[in-house]
Amino acid sequence: MSAIPSPSPTTSTEQRKKVTTRTFLRKKERGEPITMLTAYDYPTALAMDRAGVDSILVGDSLGMVVLGYENTLPVTMDEMIHHCRAVARGARYALLIGDMPFLSYQVSTEEAVRNAGRFLQEGGMDAVKLEGGRERLETVRAIVGAGIPVMGHLGLTPQSIHQLGGFRTQGKTAQAAYRLLEDALLLEEAGCFSIVLESVPAQLAEFVSRRLHIPTIGIGAGVGCDGQVLVTHDLLGLFDRFTPRFVKRYANLHAEMQRAFRDYIADVKAKAFPGEEHSVAMDDEEWEAFLALAEG
Ligand code: KIV
Repeated sequence: MSAIPSPSPTTSTEQRKKVTTRTFLRKKERGEPITMLTAYDYPTALAMDRAGVDSILVGDSLGMVVLGYENTLPVTMDEMIHHCRAVARGARYALLIGDMPFLSYQVSTEEAVRNAGRFLQEGGMDAVKLEGGRERLETVRAIVGAGIPVMGHLGLTPQSIHQLGGFRTQGKTAQAAYRLLEDALLLEEAGCFSIVLESVPAQLAEFVSRRLHIPTIGIGAGVGCDGQVLVTHDLLGLFDRFTPRFVKRYANLHAEMQRAFRDYIADVKAKAFPGEEHSVAMDDEEWEAFLALAEG
């Protein structure tokens, strides 16, 4: 395997700076869209960081797209920390956000602060994300009070799929939309530096984004958000189980991987791999000496 160079800036001559939560706010003020993607491993984080993404979310979506769970509920803190550490080794500039998994912040405020702290202390993250609105205010205040930036997450909150009745668009009625707006304002007041809006009508997401001072990051929430996020395995066509309507596929890597694996299998069966260029030979002299030793 060839050596992987350590993280370095892109070839752009522009001096890159580490993205912080302040950069998020400044981008919103300037009307500059914020880019965010999910990553769960070192090479993906390295490629994304070099491509110039503003922020990398180590999402608990890893439970579905990497670990093969049915939903995000079984994901543990230890699994999250393991993947965060890999991502942190690959990314130098992007703002790194660790997604707090189910039951890591809902049981008590103390546990929530301790678990949020693990993302920074052990996982190398810069901030955490958690799901929910008005019911999370005390938790958000406590984590922010411990010096840990918090990103909120409203709309379709996958950790509540059983309560929501599945992966469904949220905020479609006037009442539900108004509740979501109130939740967003409350999260902002509690100290969140940004909020993900997932699977909500585009008009509502735009309205909420205008009302807030902090940036919104949309996924399935239209172009009126202050930034966008996608699950990288969806964008790359790496996750074949289903693709949400709001995903734009930029590659079909699952098919490409299958092709490469099939070609490899065929090459091995046909003894077309490894070739001479993939093999190492001994010096003739050493080989003759070896044969003399081995064969007497
Ligand atoms: O877990 C995740 O990847 C997320 C994004 C969909 C925002 O929460």
